[in-house]
Amino acid sequence: MKGVVLAAGSGTRMRPIAYSMAKQLIPVANKPILFYALDDVFASGVSEVAIVVAPDTGDEIRRAVGDGSQFGLDVDYVVQPEPLGIAHALGVAGPWVGDDDVLLYLGDNMLKGGVGSTVAAFRQLRPSCHILLSRVENPQRFGVATVGADGRVVELVEKPEHPASDLALAGIYLFDPSIWPAIESLQPSGRGEYEITDAIQWLLDSGREVHASEVSGWWKDTGTKEDLLDANDLVLEALVSEIAGEITATTVTGALAVGAGTELRGCEVRGPVVVGRSSVVTDSVLGPGTAIGDDCVVTGAELTRSVLLDGVQVETWKLRNSLLGRHVSLRGRGPDTAVPLMLGERSEVVGA
Ligand code: DAU
Repeated sequence: MKGVVLAAGSGTRMRPIAYSMAKQLIPVANKPILFYALDDVFASGVSEVAIVVAPDTGDEIRRAVGDGSQFGLDVDYVVQPEPLGIAHALGVAGPWVGDDDVLLYLGDNMLKGGVGSTVAAFRQLRPSCHILLSRVENPQRFGVATVGADGRVVELVEKPEHPASDLALAGIYLFDPSIWPAIESLQPSGRGEYEITDAIQWLLDSGREVHASEVSGWWKDTGTKEDLLDANDLVLEALVSEIAGEITATTVTGALAVGAGTELRGCEVRGPVVVGRSSVVTDSVLGPGTAIGDDCVVTGAELTRSVLLDGVQVETWKLRNSLLGRHVSLRGRGPDTAVPLMLGERSEVVGA
């Protein structure tokens, strides 16, 4: 079996951050989202992986992942010229997969339980397809499955207005080679994309076996700021304290991880909080769910449930539920109450 991890697409819901970087490289708990997928693929026993990249962000992903050896994987790259849909992206990787079975993993999805048991079930039972499902409160945003009383998948609909169930397709799929004619049969959907959901429906309509299992643990599509902050909370829940930097005159409750070369001085930390390398945080309050990247400078600020990418500078501002792109600068005096911001790379805001 080979792995195909999708990291193309346009990332419109993650703009303005995704204007200047691949959305799959935005960090969750200071680790790029895509890296969680690659770790999961490795843990499932699949070692040959193609990452499907877009022409504009492909180089950045190549630089971050390299040949995959840091993940124990052998990684190749396939360029999808245009974001024409998930089925199209898999189709572009088809010649690379050849006659093998394939594990398809959407590179902006995160899964606590990993994919090992799903891969094992597929290998043992050998259906044409195995999908992972997760119960959600807003099925309209996802592909939705109807599962019969016998546990068989009956129907799949992409982003239905009136969902028949609350079972969303999590972005992990296993296929045997019957997926290739299914993809070839597709016409673009209402939103102009070649939908993987329609390809699986084609398998069902041709009498093929499609198995499904529900995710164990949590699953997150990190497509929006809120989803990303949720994922950040979920990963940080399991944070183990580890201090490689220097901490002085600082009170700490909860878990705190601090990278090498980082200094925390005169702060109050209410974990879980993670701070990367070579950052300086002084006279600030860091609340739960905060992740500060490398080379950041935070002075006299109050941050809660916020993600700061590398090189961010924050002076005195109070932030909550915020996502700041690389090298954002917030100076001067911000509003008296904590504000939820989402700012693209190198944005500069000067308060009163
Ligand atoms: O997150 C799960 C959902 O993912 C499923 O429930 C849906 O059935 C499935 O269609 C998909 O919906 P999204 O609208 O969330 O997909 P999105 O456009 O965000 O793309 C998911 C990933 O696939 C993302 O990492 C980008 C990549 N992608 C997407 C497209 C459209 C590509 O590599 N190429 C593409 O052309």
